[in-house]
This record gives sequence, C-alpha cells and structure tokens, in this order.
Amino acid sequence: MEREAMKHSLLSLLLLLLTTLPFISDGHWCYSQSQDECEEHCNGPSKWHTEYANCGGKKQSPINIVSRKTESDPTLKPFTFEGYERAQDVLVKNNGHSVQTALPPGMRIMGAGLPDAYKAVQFHLHWGSEGEAGSEHTIDGERYPMELHIVHIKEKYHQEDEAFNDTEGFAVLGFLFEKSSEDNPNYKDLIAALRRISYCGFNTTIKDLRLDSLIPKQKDLARYYRYEGSLTTPGCNEAVVWTLFEKPIPLSAAQLAAFSQTLFVDAGKPMNRTFRPVQQTHGRKVYRSRSCSLLASAAVLSLSIMSTLGLWSIQFLDLTR
Ligand SMILES: *[C@@H]1O[C@H](CO)[C@@H](O)[C@H](O)[C@H]1NC(C)=O
Ligand SMILES: *[C@@H]1O[C@H](CO)[C@@H](O)[C@H](O)[C@H]1NC(C)=O
Ligand SMILES: *[C@@H]1O[C@H](CO)[C@@H](O)[C@H](O)[C@H]1NC(C)=O
Ligand SMILES: [Zn+2]
Repeated sequence: MEREAMKHSLLSLLLLLLTTLPFISDGHWCYSQSQDECEEHCNGPSKWHTEYANCGGKKQSPINIVSRKTESDPTLKPFTFEGYERAQDVLVKNNGHSVQTALPPGMRIMGAGLPDAYKAVQFHLHWGSEGEAGSEHTIDGERYPMELHIVHIKEKYHQEDEAFNDTEGFAVLGFLFEKSSEDNPNYKDLIAALRRISYCGFNTTIKDLRLDSLIPKQKDLARYYRYEGSLTTPGCNEAVVWTLFEKPIPLSAAQLAAFSQTLFVDAGKPMNRTFRPVQQTHGRKVYRSRSCSLLASAAVLSLSIMSTLGLWSIQFLDLTR
C-alpha cells in the first residue's frame, strides 16, 4: 500500500516536471508589465536579462530619440531598395508575440551608410491596445500608435542566427504609424489576414503583397535616424544597425485597433502592448540623415539673399548712372 502511494507520488512529480519543463527550458518570455499577471508563466521585459544576458547589455533597443541631440551625418544618403516593388505571396504567422511574416528571397537594401548589402528576411509589428500607443522607439518622448520592423541580414548570411554574433549582422528598418481619418487601402490585405491567424501558431498566406506598398513613398524616405542597437526581443543580440524613418505610415483608428482586437497570445489573452520599454543609450550617439526640409529652407534663404543682393546692385547701378 505504501509502495503504491510512493509510486503514485513519484509519478505525479514526474508529470509535474514534464509539464513545467517546457516553460523553464524554452525561456518563456512575454511583454506583460504587470508582475502578478505574468510572474507564474513568463518573464516580462524587466526580467528578460535573467534568462538572456544580452538583454541587460549597454547597446539595447528600443531607445527614445532626442532629436535636438542627434548629429547630422552627410554619409546617410537615401537607400537603394531592390525587389521591394515585386508582388509576392508572403507567409504570415501568429508567433505568440507578434504577427510575423517570412519573406521570400529577392528583396535587398544598399547604400544609406550601411557597411554592406542586406537582404530582407521578415517583417513584424509592435502595437499597444485600443486607445493606447505602442511603438517601440519614441521620438522626443512621444510614443506613436504602432511600429513596423523590416528585418534584414547581411547578404552573405543564410539565416538570422548566423548574424547574431556580428555587431552589424542585421539592418532593421523601423517605420512609425500615425492615426489618419481614412483607411489605408495598402494595409487591407494584411489586416484581413489577421482574422485567419487569431491564435498562436496559426499561419496564412497573403497573395501578391508588395513590400513598397506598406511603407511611405521613396521620396519620403530620405529622412531617417541611425544608431547601433539590438534586437528588441530575447535574445536581444547587439547586432543591429538601426534605421528609424521620420515619415509615419497613416492607418485609420479601426485599422490600428484591429491588431489588438483580432490577435491573441497562447493563453487566449488579447495580444496587446507588444512593445519593449525604451532602454538607456549609455552614451550612444544617434545620427540623422541630412534633413530635406532644412536643405530646402537653406536653398530658399540663399535664393532670397541673392535676389536681395541682386536688387541692391541694380539700384546701386541706377544711382551711379
Ligand atoms: C556566437 O558566439 C557565441 C559565444 O561567443 C558562440 O557560443 C556561438 O557559437 C556563436 N554563434 C555563431 C552562430 O557563430
Ligand atoms: C502553417 O499551418 C499549417 C496548418 O496548420 C502547418 O501544417 C504548417 O506547418 C504551418 N507552417 C508554418 C511555416 O508554420
Ligand atoms: C490587454 O490585455 C490584457 C490581457 O492580456 C487585458 O487584461 C487588458 O485589459 C488589455 N488592455 C487593454 C487596454 O485593452
Ligand atoms: Zn521588432
């Protein structure tokens, strides 16, 4: 009888171990900022470093960009985009943390002060909840409604994990969103696809998606910020050349809300507030490309000075005649 009881308790211990092991071993991380809600199942951002040492590093992302302290860098010329205009079928997945796509080969970026050519491998988004902003980067303390990350790796690498140990292994293009009064037709297919991937692990295909249709027009992409940072999810590898574009992408309130309303994390909870809090810069500099508006106003100024001088000299000639 006692033997039976012991066998039974050993068995239940084994069962307990088997059921809790996945949580321990696969490093279950989440975004929840509230300790009580999250403690028992997952580590929120303030504890990521306990399991992923990189997350406690000194070159972490996202950051708050203080525009007044950014430094103009004339080598930050416009990007060359390749293949972004091609219509392709794209696999989209609810990975329990975000909506993430796997991009087919053939999309590249070059120039723009990058040390190498980089190829696009995936894109995903970060958002808040209804009525609450959820971008990862903030500008002068302002959080935008949402943020799109198009993740690229150096062309010589085959997959993301090969780029983890290279301080410039990744080039991530970050785009902020703004609320607009009308639906953005270019986001119709992506947002419609969310309904097919409400639950963790679900995937679907978006037909004929053009990456360039999701981002602002190329002429609006000459103005951006650049700094050295990390992946904003565990393992937080400090391997990213960051670009954050100034021009936001417009989405209607209903389109913005669709993300937190349609998607769920594994426990059936809404997938909301999927952003990491801003990290300290630890003295890192943020550079900015030459500001087009500054250049334009400088040109107008010099033109007006020249024409004033011109008028002056005409008047002077008139007087002396
Ligand atoms: C990255 O560096 C770590 C530690 O130096 C090493 O253990 C790992 O194998 C490296 N990974 C790659 C893909 O080179
Ligand atoms: C997509 O979902 C299908 C059906 O559930 C599954 O068989 C397939 O492995 C999934 N693909 C990916 C890449 O997750
Ligand atoms: C976000 O989701 C949590 C559950 O994960 C829920 O309790 C909370 O109300 C949601 N927040 C908002 C503002 O919708
Ligand atoms: Zn991201």
